[in-house]
Amino acid sequence: MHDIVIARALHVLAVVIWIGGVAMATTVALPAIRRGDLGPDRLRAFHAIQRRFVWQARGAVIIVGASGLYMAARLDLWERFRTVEFWWMHAMVCVWLIFALLLFVIEPFIMHRRFARLAAQSPVTAFARLHRAHWVLLVLSLITVFGAVAGSQGWSLLR
Ligand code: HEM
Repeated sequence: MHDIVIARALHVLAVVIWIGGVAMATTVALPAIRRGDLGPDRLRAFHAIQRRFVWQARGAVIIVGASGLYMAARLDLWERFRTVEFWWMHAMVCVWLIFALLLFVIEPFIMHRRFARLAAQSPVTAFARLHRAHWVLLVLSLITVFGAVAGSQGWSLLR
């Protein structure tokens, strides 16, 4: 069972880096950028942080997905997806899918240019929207982490 222990440890390690980074971006970096604390060019300040973190987040998403699927397959947990009691398993997959789409498709191919255009036209609106989206993702992620830790100890909250 060493492989399961290693997969779980990698899973949690990558979740910490990824969701910790989202929390830092939402509660520290974006408020500072919006207030102009990191300089008057908000887009430049944002890109300086985002282009460094985005690769950490992409790497973490791959590790979380691979280790999660490995555990689910090795322990044959597919039946869990049939019951609401295991809502946190669905939540993990949903959060993963949302971030994977955002980081690998929407951000590089659609949002990158669109956001730069909107930020040039009306930076206040652009960063307010971006900040709001980060809050939604952060809250969803934190509920998922809470549910997954409690749920994997047998405490479903919905039973
Ligand atoms: C494809 C996506 C994912 C799959 C297939 C997956 C699968 C799993 C599995 C099978 C477990 C072990 C459950 C158990 O021991 O009963 C687990 C645990 C866990 N997962 Fe995921 N997961 C995924 C994504 C995520 C995401 C996105 C997060 C965070 C937002 C997350 C956070 C956790 C946490 C915190 C645990 C509990 C670890 C522990 O307390 O030992 N997972 N995951």
